[in-house]
Amino acid sequence: AVALDELIAGLTVDVPDHPEPGVVFRDLTPVFADGPVFRRVVDALAAPQLADPRAAALGAADGGQGFDVVVGVEARGFLLAAAVALDAGVGVVPVRKAGKLPRERIAADYALEYGTATLELHADSVRPGQRVLVVDDVLATGGTLEAAVALVEQLGGVVTAVSVVVELAALGGRQRLAPHAVHALWTT
Ligand code: PRP
Ligand code: HPA
Repeated sequence: AVALDELIAGLTVDVPDHPEPGVVFRDLTPVFADGPVFRRVVDALAAPQLADPRAAALGAADGGQGFDVVVGVEARGFLLAAAVALDAGVGVVPVRKAGKLPRERIAADYALEYGTATLELHADSVRPGQRVLVVDDVLATGGTLEAAVALVEQLGGVVTAVSVVVELAALGGRQRLAPHAVHALWTT
C-alpha cells in the first residue's frame, strides 16, 4: 500500500499567492474529495488516541489516551472532526469564529498575519475532565490551534492530542503547541 503521507502530498495542490502575494497555499480539498484517501485520513487522525483494542486494529502504538469528544476548528476542521467523531462513536464540538455561536461562550484571541481574530466555544460544550481530541486540517504558525486548545482547557477539558492532516514545519506550530502532542499525517 502507498504510504498515507505520500497520498496526501500527491493530492495536495500548492497555490501560489493565495490568499495574498508571497504565500504558497496548500489546498487540501482534493485530499478530502478522494473517498479512499479520506477514509484513511479519518482513521489516522484518531488512531493514536483510540484506546485498545481499536487502536491496535488501526495500527496505532500502544498507550493511546483515548478521547471522549472531538473538537473541530472552523471551517475546514469541521469536515474532519465530524468524521473522526462519528467513526469513534463520540460527539463533535465546534470551535467557531467570533459571532457564530448563539449561547453563553468563551473567547480567545489569536494572531493572524495582519491583526488578530477571535475563536469561541460554547461554555457548556466541554465538561471538566473530558478528554478532548482537537482536529484541524493544517498546522501553520499554530496560532489557531493554540487558541482552540486554550478554550478547551479554560473549560477544564484535557487535550489528549492535536491531530492535523498537514504540518508546515517551518512555521513552528509544533513548538508553539508544546507540551501538547501534535499528530501530523504529513509534515512538510
Ligand atoms: C486555516 C487552517 C487552520 C489555520 C492554520 O484556517 O484551516 O485552521 O488557518 O493557521 P495557523 O496555524 O497559522 O493558525 P483559516 O483561518 O484560513 O480558516 P478556514 O478554515 O475557515 O478557511
Ligand atoms: N494551506 C491551508 N491552510 C493554511 C495554510 C495553507 O498553506 N496556511 C495557513 N492555513
